[in-house]
Amino acid sequence: MTLRDAHQATPRDPENSEGESNLSPYRSKWSEAQTGAQTKDAIARDAACFLHQSVSSPCLSAVRRAQGIWLEDMDGRRYMDFHGNSVHHIGYGHPRLKAAITRQMDELPFAPRRFACEPATALAEKLGQIAPGDLCKVLFTTGGSDAIETALKVARVATGRFKTLSFWDSFHGAGFGASSVGGEQLFRMGPIGPLLPGTEHVPPFDAYRNPFGIPHSRAQPRDREVGDIVAGLIRFALQKEGDFAAVIAEPNRAVPFIPPPGFWKQVRDACDEAGALLIFDEIPTGLGKTGKMFACDHDEVVPDILVMGKALGGGIVPIAATICRPELDVCGAFALGHYTHEKNPVTCRAALTTIEIIEEENLVENAATVGAWALERLHDMMDRHNAIGDVRGRGFLLGIDLVTSRETKEPASDLAERVFYRCLENGLSFKISMGSVLTLYPALVTSRADMEKALQIIDDAIACEA
Ligand SMILES: Cc1ncc(COP(=O)(O)O)c(C=O)c1O
Repeated sequence: MTLRDAHQATPRDPENSEGESNLSPYRSKWSEAQTGAQTKDAIARDAACFLHQSVSSPCLSAVRRAQGIWLEDMDGRRYMDFHGNSVHHIGYGHPRLKAAITRQMDELPFAPRRFACEPATALAEKLGQIAPGDLCKVLFTTGGSDAIETALKVARVATGRFKTLSFWDSFHGAGFGASSVGGEQLFRMGPIGPLLPGTEHVPPFDAYRNPFGIPHSRAQPRDREVGDIVAGLIRFALQKEGDFAAVIAEPNRAVPFIPPPGFWKQVRDACDEAGALLIFDEIPTGLGKTGKMFACDHDEVVPDILVMGKALGGGIVPIAATICRPELDVCGAFALGHYTHEKNPVTCRAALTTIEIIEEENLVENAATVGAWALERLHDMMDRHNAIGDVRGRGFLLGIDLVTSRETKEPASDLAERVFYRCLENGLSFKISMGSVLTLYPALVTSRADMEKALQIIDDAIACEA
Protein backbone atom coordinates (compact mmCIF):
# COMPACT_ATOMS: atom_id res chain seq x y z
CA MET A 1 0.00 0.00 0.00
CA THR A 2 1.47 3.39 -0.94
CA LEU A 3 1.07 6.38 1.34
CA ARG A 4 -1.43 7.80 -1.15
CA ASP A 5 -3.56 4.62 -0.83
CA ALA A 6 -3.30 4.87 2.92
CA HIS A 7 -4.66 8.39 2.80
CA GLN A 8 -7.55 7.44 0.55
CA ALA A 9 -8.42 4.54 2.85
CA THR A 10 -8.51 6.84 5.90
CA PRO A 11 -9.86 10.26 5.01
CA ARG A 12 -8.88 13.29 7.08
CA ASP A 13 -11.41 14.59 9.55
CA PRO A 14 -11.72 18.30 8.69
CA GLU A 15 -13.54 19.01 11.97
CA ASN A 16 -10.69 17.67 14.04
CA SER A 17 -7.99 20.32 14.17
CA GLU A 18 -5.83 18.26 16.52
CA GLY A 19 -6.05 15.44 13.98
CA GLU A 20 -4.85 17.84 11.30
CA SER A 21 -1.65 18.79 13.05
CA ASN A 22 -0.79 15.78 15.17
CA LEU A 23 -2.61 12.69 14.10
CA SER A 24 -3.12 12.68 10.33
CA PRO A 25 -3.85 9.35 8.61
CA TYR A 26 -0.42 9.43 6.95
CA ARG A 27 1.17 9.76 10.33
CA SER A 28 -0.87 6.91 11.79
CA LYS A 29 0.11 4.61 8.91
CA TRP A 30 3.76 5.60 9.13
CA SER A 31 3.74 5.14 12.87
CA GLU A 32 2.11 1.73 12.63
CA ALA A 33 4.65 0.45 10.13
CA GLN A 34 7.79 2.34 11.09
CA THR A 35 7.95 2.46 14.87
CA GLY A 36 8.94 -0.51 16.99
CA ALA A 37 7.39 -1.72 20.22
CA GLN A 38 9.61 0.31 22.56
CA THR A 39 9.05 3.51 20.63
CA LYS A 40 5.28 2.95 20.60
CA ASP A 41 5.31 2.35 24.33
CA ALA A 42 7.36 5.52 24.99
CA ILE A 43 4.98 7.61 22.85
CA ALA A 44 1.92 6.19 24.65
CA ARG A 45 3.34 6.91 28.11
CA ASP A 46 4.28 10.43 26.98
CA ALA A 47 0.78 11.05 25.57
CA ALA A 48 -0.79 9.88 28.81
CA CYS A 49 1.09 12.33 31.05
CA PHE A 50 1.71 15.45 28.93
CA LEU A 51 -0.81 18.15 28.06
CA HIS A 52 -1.64 17.70 24.40
CA GLN A 53 -0.99 20.57 21.99
CA SER A 54 -0.73 20.94 18.25
CA VAL A 55 2.52 20.02 16.47
CA SER A 56 3.98 18.75 19.74
CA SER A 57 2.22 16.17 21.92
CA PRO A 58 1.21 13.40 21.21
CA CYS A 59 4.70 12.86 19.85
CA LEU A 60 5.73 11.54 16.46
CA SER A 61 8.47 9.30 17.82
CA ALA A 62 10.71 8.87 20.86
CA VAL A 63 14.50 9.20 21.00
CA ARG A 64 17.05 7.39 23.11
CA ARG A 65 20.17 8.89 21.52
CA ALA A 66 21.18 12.15 19.81
CA GLN A 67 24.72 12.31 18.45
CA GLY A 68 26.18 14.69 15.85
CA ILE A 69 23.48 15.10 13.19
CA TRP A 70 21.78 11.82 14.11
CA LEU A 71 18.76 10.87 16.20
CA GLU A 72 18.06 7.29 17.19
CA ASP A 73 14.62 6.08 18.26
CA MET A 74 13.92 3.65 21.10
CA ASP A 75 14.19 0.68 18.74
CA GLY A 76 17.42 1.77 17.06
CA ARG A 77 16.04 3.43 13.88
CA ARG A 78 18.29 6.33 12.92
CA TYR A 79 17.40 9.68 11.35
CA MET A 80 19.56 12.47 10.00
CA ASP A 81 18.06 15.41 11.87
CA PHE A 82 17.51 18.31 9.45
CA HIS A 83 15.31 20.11 11.96
CA GLY A 84 16.70 19.89 15.50
CA ASN A 85 14.59 22.92 16.52
CA SER A 86 17.66 24.85 15.26
CA VAL A 87 19.54 24.07 18.49
CA HIS A 88 22.07 21.60 17.10
CA HIS A 89 24.47 23.92 15.21
CA ILE A 90 27.54 22.15 16.68
CA GLY A 91 25.95 18.68 16.49
CA TYR A 92 24.34 16.86 19.38
CA GLY A 93 26.54 15.93 22.32
CA HIS A 94 29.74 17.73 21.26
CA PRO A 95 32.46 16.21 23.54
CA ARG A 96 34.15 19.58 24.17
CA LEU A 97 30.86 21.12 25.25
CA LYS A 98 30.00 18.21 27.55
CA ALA A 99 33.45 18.47 29.19
CA ALA A 100 33.10 22.26 29.68
CA ILE A 101 29.65 21.85 31.26
CA THR A 102 30.93 19.12 33.59
CA ARG A 103 33.89 21.26 34.67
CA GLN A 104 31.62 24.24 35.28
CA MET A 105 29.23 22.17 37.40
CA ASP A 106 32.17 21.15 39.58
CA GLU A 107 33.52 24.69 39.93
CA LEU A 108 30.35 26.79 40.33
CA PRO A 109 26.95 25.22 39.65
CA PHE A 110 24.72 28.27 40.26
CA ALA A 111 24.80 32.00 40.98
CA PRO A 112 21.77 33.50 42.74
CA ARG A 113 20.47 36.82 41.41
CA ARG A 114 22.51 39.85 42.54
CA PHE A 115 25.76 37.83 42.43
CA ALA A 116 27.99 38.34 39.40
CA CYS A 117 29.88 35.33 38.07
CA GLU A 118 32.73 34.93 35.60
CA PRO A 119 30.98 32.75 32.95
CA ALA A 120 27.99 35.14 32.71
CA THR A 121 30.20 38.22 32.41
CA ALA A 122 32.51 36.53 29.90
CA LEU A 123 29.51 35.48 27.78
CA ALA A 124 27.98 38.97 27.82
CA GLU A 125 31.37 40.42 26.76
CA LYS A 126 31.74 37.81 24.00
CA LEU A 127 28.25 38.52 22.64
CA GLY A 128 29.14 42.21 22.58
CA GLN A 129 32.16 41.31 20.40
CA ILE A 130 30.32 39.14 17.87
CA ALA A 131 27.02 41.06 17.68
CA PRO A 132 26.63 43.54 14.83
CA GLY A 133 27.38 47.26 15.33
CA ASP A 134 27.66 48.51 18.90
CA LEU A 135 25.13 46.11 20.45
CA CYS A 136 26.64 45.19 23.81
CA LYS A 137 24.22 45.46 26.76
CA VAL A 138 22.84 42.03 27.49
CA LEU A 139 20.20 40.18 29.52
CA PHE A 140 19.89 36.37 29.59
CA THR A 141 16.72 34.30 29.88
CA THR A 142 16.09 30.59 29.66
CA GLY A 143 13.98 30.72 26.48
CA GLY A 144 13.59 32.76 23.33
CA SER A 145 10.02 33.81 24.06
CA ASP A 146 11.12 35.43 27.35
CA ALA A 147 14.01 37.18 25.60
CA ILE A 148 11.49 38.66 23.14
CA GLU A 149 9.39 39.93 26.08
CA THR A 150 12.53 41.58 27.47
CA ALA A 151 13.13 43.30 24.13
CA LEU A 152 9.53 44.56 24.03
CA LYS A 153 9.83 45.96 27.56
CA VAL A 154 13.10 47.75 26.76
CA ALA A 155 11.47 49.26 23.67
CA ARG A 156 8.52 50.51 25.72
CA VAL A 157 10.70 52.14 28.36
CA ALA A 158 13.17 53.61 25.88
CA THR A 159 10.52 55.18 23.62
CA GLY A 160 7.70 55.83 26.08
CA ARG A 161 5.44 54.11 23.54
CA PHE A 162 3.81 50.67 23.47
CA LYS A 163 2.74 49.91 19.88
CA THR A 164 4.61 47.42 17.72
CA LEU A 165 4.60 46.64 14.02
CA SER A 166 5.42 43.11 12.94
CA PHE A 167 4.71 40.60 10.16
CA TRP A 168 1.85 38.24 9.50
CA ASP A 169 3.17 34.66 9.39
CA SER A 170 6.08 35.52 11.68
CA PHE A 171 6.85 33.61 14.88
CA HIS A 172 8.39 35.09 18.00
CA GLY A 173 7.51 32.59 20.72
CA ALA A 174 4.58 31.40 22.77
CA GLY A 175 4.29 33.94 25.64
CA PHE A 176 1.48 36.49 25.47
CA GLY A 177 3.77 39.29 24.27
CA ALA A 178 5.54 37.06 21.76
CA SER A 179 2.25 35.57 20.49
CA SER A 180 0.84 39.08 20.11
CA VAL A 181 3.68 40.32 17.91
CA GLY A 182 3.84 36.96 16.13
CA GLY A 183 1.68 36.46 13.07
CA GLU A 184 1.03 32.71 12.96
CA GLN A 185 -2.61 31.82 13.25
CA LEU A 186 -1.92 28.75 15.39
CA PHE A 187 -0.56 30.90 18.21
CA ARG A 188 -3.16 33.65 18.00
CA MET A 189 -6.48 32.00 17.25
CA GLY A 190 -9.17 30.45 19.40
CA PRO A 191 -9.84 31.11 23.05
CA ILE A 192 -6.23 32.05 23.89
CA GLY A 193 -6.77 35.81 23.47
CA PRO A 194 -7.19 38.65 24.02
CA LEU A 195 -3.64 39.39 23.02
CA LEU A 196 -1.66 42.58 23.72
CA PRO A 197 -3.19 45.81 22.40
CA GLY A 198 -1.27 47.91 19.86
CA THR A 199 0.36 44.97 18.08
CA GLU A 200 -0.19 45.75 14.40
CA HIS A 201 0.94 43.67 11.43
CA VAL A 202 1.94 44.00 7.78
CA PRO A 203 2.18 41.21 5.15
CA PRO A 204 5.48 39.32 4.95
CA PHE A 205 8.14 40.26 2.40
CA ASP A 206 8.06 36.86 0.71
CA ALA A 207 7.61 37.41 -3.03
CA TYR A 208 6.58 33.90 -4.08
CA ARG A 209 2.99 34.02 -2.78
CA ASN A 210 2.72 37.76 -2.15
CA PRO A 211 -0.76 39.18 -1.48
CA PHE A 212 -0.28 42.05 -3.95
CA GLY A 213 -0.90 40.00 -7.11
CA ILE A 214 2.67 40.48 -8.33
CA PRO A 215 3.58 37.41 -10.45
CA HIS A 216 7.02 36.52 -9.07
CA SER A 217 8.84 33.46 -10.43
CA ARG A 218 12.42 32.25 -10.79
CA ALA A 219 12.35 33.18 -14.49
CA GLN A 220 10.92 36.63 -13.76
CA PRO A 221 11.85 37.63 -10.23
CA ARG A 222 9.82 40.53 -8.81
CA ASP A 223 11.06 40.31 -5.22
CA ARG A 224 12.45 43.85 -5.19
CA GLU A 225 9.03 45.18 -6.14
CA VAL A 226 7.36 43.21 -3.33
CA GLY A 227 10.04 44.39 -0.89
CA ASP A 228 9.46 48.01 -1.89
CA ILE A 229 5.72 47.68 -1.33
CA VAL A 230 6.09 46.08 2.11
CA ALA A 231 8.76 48.59 3.17
CA GLY A 232 6.39 51.34 1.95
CA LEU A 233 3.56 49.91 4.06
CA ILE A 234 5.85 49.90 7.10
CA ARG A 235 6.91 53.51 6.51
CA PHE A 236 3.26 54.50 5.98
CA ALA A 237 2.03 52.81 9.19
CA LEU A 238 4.92 54.20 11.29
CA GLN A 239 4.29 57.75 10.06
CA LYS A 240 0.49 57.57 10.06
CA GLU A 241 0.26 56.78 13.75
CA GLY A 242 3.58 58.27 14.76
CA ASP A 243 3.74 56.46 18.08
CA PHE A 244 5.20 53.02 17.47
CA ALA A 245 7.76 51.74 19.95
CA ALA A 246 9.30 49.21 17.58
CA VAL A 247 9.26 47.13 14.44
CA ILE A 248 10.02 43.53 15.36
CA ALA A 249 10.94 40.93 12.76
CA GLU A 250 12.90 37.87 11.84
CA PRO A 251 15.44 39.33 9.38
CA ASN A 252 15.31 36.05 7.48
CA ARG A 253 12.05 34.25 8.23
CA ALA A 254 12.87 30.63 8.90
CA VAL A 255 10.24 29.26 6.42
CA PRO A 256 12.51 30.51 4.71
CA PHE A 257 11.56 33.91 3.33
CA ILE A 258 14.68 35.65 2.06
CA PRO A 259 14.49 39.46 2.30
CA PRO A 260 14.62 41.26 -1.05
CA PRO A 261 17.79 43.30 -1.68
CA GLY A 262 17.71 46.64 0.11
CA PHE A 263 14.54 45.79 2.05
CA TRP A 264 15.98 46.07 5.57
CA LYS A 265 17.84 49.30 4.75
CA GLN A 266 14.50 50.86 3.82
CA VAL A 267 12.90 49.58 7.05
CA ARG A 268 15.86 50.80 9.11
CA ASP A 269 15.46 54.29 7.62
CA ALA A 270 11.69 54.26 8.18
CA CYS A 271 12.23 53.33 11.86
CA ASP A 272 14.79 56.08 12.34
CA GLU A 273 12.50 58.68 10.75
CA ALA A 274 9.60 57.63 13.00
CA GLY A 275 11.61 57.27 16.23
CA ALA A 276 10.79 53.54 16.44
CA LEU A 277 13.32 50.88 17.40
CA LEU A 278 14.19 47.96 15.13
CA ILE A 279 14.25 44.59 16.90
CA PHE A 280 15.64 41.55 15.08
CA ASP A 281 14.64 38.10 16.28
CA GLU A 282 17.62 35.90 15.39
CA ILE A 283 16.61 33.06 17.70
CA PRO A 284 16.84 30.36 14.97
CA THR A 285 19.14 32.23 12.56
CA GLY A 286 21.84 33.57 14.90
CA LEU A 287 25.29 31.96 15.26
CA GLY A 288 25.73 31.09 11.60
CA LYS A 289 22.61 29.31 10.36
CA THR A 290 22.37 31.46 7.23
CA GLY A 291 26.08 31.31 6.39
CA LYS A 292 26.97 34.53 8.26
CA MET A 293 27.18 34.93 12.04
CA PHE A 294 23.83 36.76 12.00
CA ALA A 295 21.22 36.85 9.23
CA CYS A 296 21.17 40.66 9.36
CA ASP A 297 24.87 40.67 8.40
CA HIS A 298 23.78 39.73 4.84
CA ASP A 299 21.81 42.97 4.64
CA GLU A 300 24.36 45.13 6.48
CA VAL A 301 21.67 46.49 8.75
CA VAL A 302 22.20 46.80 12.50
CA PRO A 303 19.08 46.58 14.70
CA ASP A 304 18.67 48.42 18.00
CA ILE A 305 17.99 45.14 19.77
CA LEU A 306 18.94 41.63 18.69
CA VAL A 307 17.45 38.52 20.29
CA MET A 308 19.11 35.13 20.14
CA GLY A 309 18.52 31.72 21.71
CA LYS A 310 18.19 28.08 20.60
CA ALA A 311 21.72 27.06 19.44
CA LEU A 312 23.28 29.38 22.01
CA GLY A 313 22.94 26.53 24.53
CA GLY A 314 24.81 24.13 22.25
CA GLY A 315 21.83 21.78 21.96
CA ILE A 316 22.21 20.79 25.61
CA VAL A 317 21.03 23.64 27.87
CA PRO A 318 18.37 26.35 27.48
CA ILE A 319 19.65 29.93 27.25
CA ALA A 320 18.60 32.99 25.25
CA ALA A 321 19.86 36.57 25.14
CA THR A 322 18.58 40.07 24.44
CA ILE A 323 21.39 42.34 23.23
CA CYS A 324 20.85 46.11 23.06
CA ARG A 325 22.60 49.29 21.97
CA PRO A 326 24.30 50.91 24.98
CA GLU A 327 21.85 53.87 24.96
CA LEU A 328 19.02 51.42 25.65
CA ASP A 329 20.29 50.70 29.14
CA VAL A 330 17.36 52.73 30.51
CA CYS A 331 15.49 50.30 32.73
CA GLY A 332 17.53 50.59 35.94
CA ALA A 333 14.40 51.53 37.90
CA PHE A 334 12.21 48.75 36.48
CA ALA A 335 12.11 44.96 36.59
CA LEU A 336 12.76 43.72 33.07
CA GLY A 337 12.89 40.05 33.89
CA HIS A 338 14.28 38.72 37.15
CA TYR A 339 14.74 35.31 35.65
CA THR A 340 15.91 32.63 38.07
CA HIS A 341 18.63 31.44 35.70
CA GLU A 342 19.61 34.96 34.56
CA LYS A 343 23.29 34.41 35.33
CA ASN A 344 23.45 30.63 35.58
CA PRO A 345 27.17 29.81 35.25
CA VAL A 346 26.50 26.41 33.65
CA THR A 347 24.24 27.69 30.85
CA CYS A 348 26.56 30.67 30.31
CA ARG A 349 29.63 28.38 30.12
CA ALA A 350 27.77 26.19 27.62
CA ALA A 351 27.02 29.24 25.46
CA LEU A 352 30.60 30.52 25.59
CA THR A 353 31.98 27.12 24.63
CA THR A 354 29.41 26.76 21.84
CA ILE A 355 30.53 30.05 20.31
CA GLU A 356 34.19 28.97 20.59
CA ILE A 357 33.39 25.69 18.81
CA ILE A 358 31.47 27.51 16.04
CA GLU A 359 34.41 29.86 15.51
CA GLU A 360 37.24 27.33 15.79
CA GLU A 361 35.58 24.63 13.64
CA ASN A 362 34.67 27.22 10.94
CA LEU A 363 31.04 26.16 11.08
CA VAL A 364 29.65 29.42 9.68
CA GLU A 365 31.82 28.94 6.59
CA ASN A 366 30.62 25.34 6.28
CA ALA A 367 26.98 26.50 6.33
CA ALA A 368 27.78 29.09 3.65
CA THR A 369 29.61 26.75 1.24
CA VAL A 370 27.62 23.53 1.68
CA GLY A 371 24.41 25.61 1.80
CA ALA A 372 25.24 27.33 -1.51
CA TRP A 373 25.93 23.95 -3.09
CA ALA A 374 22.65 22.56 -1.69
CA LEU A 375 20.64 25.48 -3.09
CA GLU A 376 22.08 24.82 -6.55
CA ARG A 377 21.11 21.17 -6.18
CA LEU A 378 17.57 22.23 -5.19
CA HIS A 379 17.31 24.36 -8.33
CA ASP A 380 18.33 21.32 -10.33
CA MET A 381 15.63 19.29 -8.52
CA MET A 382 13.08 21.98 -9.38
CA ASP A 383 13.99 21.67 -13.07
CA ARG A 384 13.07 17.98 -12.90
CA HIS A 385 9.96 18.03 -10.67
CA ASN A 386 6.90 20.10 -11.64
CA ALA A 387 5.58 19.64 -8.11
CA ILE A 388 8.27 22.02 -6.87
CA GLY A 389 7.00 25.58 -7.27
CA ASP A 390 9.88 27.37 -5.61
CA VAL A 391 13.12 26.72 -3.76
CA ARG A 392 14.61 29.26 -1.40
CA GLY A 393 17.52 29.39 0.96
CA ARG A 394 20.48 31.01 2.63
CA GLY A 395 23.21 28.88 4.16
CA PHE A 396 21.58 26.06 6.09
CA LEU A 397 18.03 27.44 5.98
CA LEU A 398 16.51 25.79 2.93
CA GLY A 399 12.95 25.41 1.67
CA ILE A 400 11.27 23.40 -1.07
CA ASP A 401 7.78 24.75 -1.76
CA LEU A 402 5.50 22.05 -3.18
CA VAL A 403 2.54 23.09 -5.35
CA THR A 404 -0.36 21.41 -7.10
CA SER A 405 0.30 23.71 -10.09
CA ARG A 406 3.09 26.15 -10.88
CA GLU A 407 0.50 28.54 -12.34
CA THR A 408 -1.82 28.74 -9.34
CA LYS A 409 0.93 28.08 -6.76
CA GLU A 410 -1.65 26.25 -4.67
CA PRO A 411 0.19 24.64 -1.74
CA ALA A 412 0.48 20.85 -2.18
CA SER A 413 0.02 20.07 1.52
CA ASP A 414 -1.05 16.49 0.92
CA LEU A 415 2.00 15.76 -1.21
CA ALA A 416 4.26 17.48 1.33
CA GLU A 417 3.02 15.12 4.01
CA ARG A 418 3.50 12.02 1.86
CA VAL A 419 7.02 13.14 0.96
CA PHE A 420 7.76 13.84 4.61
CA TYR A 421 6.77 10.35 5.80
CA ARG A 422 8.61 8.68 2.92
CA CYS A 423 11.75 10.62 3.87
CA LEU A 424 11.36 9.57 7.51
CA GLU A 425 11.07 5.99 6.30
CA ASN A 426 14.43 6.48 4.58
CA GLY A 427 16.16 8.04 7.55
CA LEU A 428 15.73 11.79 7.13
CA SER A 429 13.79 14.08 9.51
CA PHE A 430 12.85 17.69 8.77
CA LYS A 431 9.75 19.81 9.15
CA ILE A 432 6.94 21.06 6.95
CA SER A 433 6.25 24.81 7.23
CA MET A 434 3.18 26.71 6.04
CA GLY A 435 1.58 23.41 5.03
CA SER A 436 3.66 22.76 1.92
CA VAL A 437 7.27 23.88 2.41
CA LEU A 438 9.77 21.10 3.09
CA THR A 439 11.98 23.05 5.47
CA LEU A 440 15.55 21.96 6.10
CA TYR A 441 17.59 23.22 9.06
CA PRO A 442 20.65 20.94 9.04
CA ALA A 443 23.19 21.26 11.83
CA LEU A 444 26.15 23.49 10.93
CA VAL A 445 28.44 20.45 11.18
CA THR A 446 26.62 18.71 8.28
CA SER A 447 29.12 17.64 5.64
CA ARG A 448 28.65 17.91 1.89
CA ALA A 449 28.37 14.10 1.74
CA ASP A 450 25.54 14.00 4.30
CA MET A 451 23.82 16.91 2.58
CA GLU A 452 24.05 15.02 -0.72
CA LYS A 453 22.55 11.91 0.91
CA ALA A 454 19.67 13.91 2.43
CA LEU A 455 18.81 15.71 -0.81
CA GLN A 456 18.82 12.41 -2.69
CA ILE A 457 16.29 11.01 -0.18
CA ILE A 458 14.05 14.03 -0.81
CA ASP A 459 14.53 13.84 -4.60
CA ASP A 460 13.54 10.14 -4.61
CA ALA A 461 10.55 10.77 -2.32
CA ILE A 462 9.18 13.52 -4.59
CA ALA A 463 9.72 11.32 -7.67
CA CYS A 464 7.83 8.53 -5.96
CA GLU A 465 4.92 10.49 -4.43
CA ALA A 466 4.24 13.31 -6.92
C1 LIG B 1 11.92 33.08 15.29
C2 LIG B 1 11.65 32.53 16.66
N1 LIG B 1 11.45 33.39 17.68
C3 LIG B 1 11.19 32.95 18.92
C4 LIG B 1 11.13 31.60 19.22
C5 LIG B 1 10.80 31.15 20.62
O1 LIG B 1 11.88 30.56 21.23
P1 LIG B 1 11.63 29.58 22.49
O2 LIG B 1 10.94 28.36 21.96
O3 LIG B 1 13.00 29.30 23.01
O4 LIG B 1 10.78 30.33 23.46
C6 LIG B 1 11.34 30.67 18.20
C7 LIG B 1 11.23 29.22 18.46
O5 LIG B 1 11.00 28.41 17.59
C8 LIG B 1 11.61 31.15 16.87
O6 LIG B 1 11.81 30.30 15.84
